[in-house]
Amino acid sequence: VTTGSDGITPRDGWSSRTAFILAAVGSAVGLGNLVRFPAEAGANGGGAFVLFYIFCIVLIGLPVLLSETLIGRHGQSSATESVRRMAAESKASRYWEGLAGLGVISAFMILAFYCVIGGWVLYYIGVFVGDLFTSGVTGGALAGMSAEDISAIFPALLENGLLMTVLDLVFVVITVYFVARGVSGGIEIAAVWLMPAFFILLLGITIYGAFGGAFSETLTYLFTVDFTKLTPDVMLAAVGQAFFSLSLGVAGMITYGSYVGRDVNLAGTSAIIAFADTSVALVAGLCIFPIVFAAGLSSEGGLGLMFDTLPHAFQSMPAGSVIGLAFFIMVGFAALTSSVALMEVPTSWAMEKFKTRRMPTAIAIATLAGLLGVASAYSMNALSGFHPLGFIPLFEGLGIMDTLDSVTAKLFMPIGAILTAVFVGWIADKRLINGENGLDGGLHKLWLFLVRWLCPVVLTLIVLFGIFG
Ligand code: PHE
Repeated sequence: VTTGSDGITPRDGWSSRTAFILAAVGSAVGLGNLVRFPAEAGANGGGAFVLFYIFCIVLIGLPVLLSETLIGRHGQSSATESVRRMAAESKASRYWEGLAGLGVISAFMILAFYCVIGGWVLYYIGVFVGDLFTSGVTGGALAGMSAEDISAIFPALLENGLLMTVLDLVFVVITVYFVARGVSGGIEIAAVWLMPAFFILLLGITIYGAFGGAFSETLTYLFTVDFTKLTPDVMLAAVGQAFFSLSLGVAGMITYGSYVGRDVNLAGTSAIIAFADTSVALVAGLCIFPIVFAAGLSSEGGLGLMFDTLPHAFQSMPAGSVIGLAFFIMVGFAALTSSVALMEVPTSWAMEKFKTRRMPTAIAIATLAGLLGVASAYSMNALSGFHPLGFIPLFEGLGIMDTLDSVTAKLFMPIGAILTAVFVGWIADKRLINGENGLDGGLHKLWLFLVRWLCPVVLTLIVLFGIFG
């Protein structure tokens, strides 16, 4: 039995395999699936992007997901310590733990701006709660507002640094509430309650939206593959999105894997997690685009797809305010189970590093992430002229929030994933790997080939293309 940070009591862990699956799916399913996937698919030409995305999940994402969970399960401790243990048992340099250290930093950086966006979601929940009273339940949402009025909601929010700060901090507090209560008593509880509720809302809204008339248009849009649209840029976007969506490269799945019992088959479980995450991304497309197309709106627009286009679309939809409210509550649930995962990574690292108890450690991490979040919130208004890494051409002209996003997405996450694949594929003792991954025969060989060759090569190309392309 491994002990917790006090060295005496047994280490906390998932109470069952189902709890692990729900928590890992909760980590994977988030703003990435609901905001970024539809926006990227929309911006990158639909079907070609979607097909290549699925290809990336299966051949690159899934092998790395299994690599991360097996490092964690083997180590039964924080991400860095788990890598260090596997390295020591493989007689390799202890510096490999740096791959997890990089992940811990990335998770913290993403956490900071993720909670700001979580705050936006809270704002829209508020807008649609208020709207229930003004527009009523049967008619369209935002009754009496002109198209210009609706278009002004999102920019007005982004201008309001104070409001964003308050909402960000509320989101951080909700997140730390679950993290501070521990793995089985907090993180798991959030996943076990919120994920089923999320699935019900997603299916309900999708089915309702499908009757709006634009469902076949959406199918054509998402699944007609035009290979001329598969440019290097589109491929790059697809790989990056696949990694972000599966929560890879930030030591998150090493951390969650470290709470998994010895009896769980990791290969099968990882496949379930990847399947669920990808299904949610696709269903999110089938949920959002019919609503957008039925209102005659455009599928492009990045973050604006959710925070600007959809509110317009809810206006012309029967029972629009109810659907709008349900929609943003659903997004909030997904974002929360992901922010919990992001906060758990630095929390579990710090608990072990400084031998501290969970509650104060989680609160300290939350406070720091909150502060960086405040800076991010103001980077869209008062601080918009401040470009922290502006002296590096790659990050020129980016404010605080965009810098956090870019540095992690373009460099830290793919580099973390390359190191993970190389470590598991080449460095770690094969007997340790065989004992953990739950694979044998041809599948084991295929997996080993993917982590040794395909993942590092493709990911290195991604990093280089991101820098020089
Ligand atoms: N996978 C999450 C999403 O799609 C984001 C995330 C990344 C969560 C890394 C945890 C760790 O929104």
